[in-house]
Amino acid sequence: MKTVFGVFGDPVEHSLSPEMHNAAFSELGMDSIYHAFRVDKKSLEYALNGANAMGFGGVNITVPLKQEALKFVNTDPLAFRIGAVNTIDFRNENAMIGYNTDGVGARRAIADAGVDIKNKKILILGAGGASRAICFQFANDGADLIIANRTESKAVELAEDVKSVGNAKGTGFSNLEELVAESDILINTTTVGMHPNTKDTIITKEQMHSGLVVFDIVYNPLETRLLKEAKSAGAIPVNGLMMFVYQGAEAFKIWTGENPPIEVMKNTVLEELKS
Ligand code: ATR
Repeated sequence: MKTVFGVFGDPVEHSLSPEMHNAAFSELGMDSIYHAFRVDKKSLEYALNGANAMGFGGVNITVPLKQEALKFVNTDPLAFRIGAVNTIDFRNENAMIGYNTDGVGARRAIADAGVDIKNKKILILGAGGASRAICFQFANDGADLIIANRTESKAVELAEDVKSVGNAKGTGFSNLEELVAESDILINTTTVGMHPNTKDTIITKEQMHSGLVVFDIVYNPLETRLLKEAKSAGAIPVNGLMMFVYQGAEAFKIWTGENPPIEVMKNTVLEELKS
């Protein structure tokens, strides 16, 4: 009998996780299947308990459920600090265990691009769920963070939380030009530039300097306006593809204990993004 995995979210029909994980199962000859399930907030507890009762192998949690899911699972310490889970493991008989693999995904993606973040000045745009995961991971890894958010109070609040593991300051958007000039790495965690609003960007090439690493966690489109601007400024663009692949790969490892076939997962997502 096949083992069932899935992603719970709403909306969830455009998720590329099913294709990515099914390709991985097929590559490793595993008799498993991964499916997207539309689950809203009020049904999440039932959906999780149901999946657990039916012997699911594991689930991912996506928008808008990542924070809500904390209520129903035992969280590992990192996910607890972040305040959000994106991966749930059902193998423990006493409790469902929640993890957050977004930050590790970002760290691996940026390391792949040849960038060492230790002691680097990183300007992070946005203070939402994705930002929280990245900020905790990167502050913990020794980077020096400035978190800038349209709603300044959220950035200040996040920075206060992150200070428990490393260096972080929160601010608004009023002084962005200067902040970019002082940074080694710029990371966009906001939805600005994401399909269908592909012409939007918070920072333009005039504000960038050569050698600046510009990491956009958006992967649809793969080359966002921000990354185009980076290219023409002589900055180093890093797209969101590998963060998505690695967050999935980390989840795959948690559920199955197997080494995920990264290349197969990456090529599957790339093909899906092209079609
Ligand atoms: P996610 O979980 O994907 O990070 P989120 O928690 O809804 O999503 O956070 C979205 C982030 O994108 C927030 O930092 C948001 O800024 P606000 O806190 O001010 O809302 C940011 N964001 C969304 N649209 C934006 C826009 N047009 N300009 C600037 N920031 C934007």
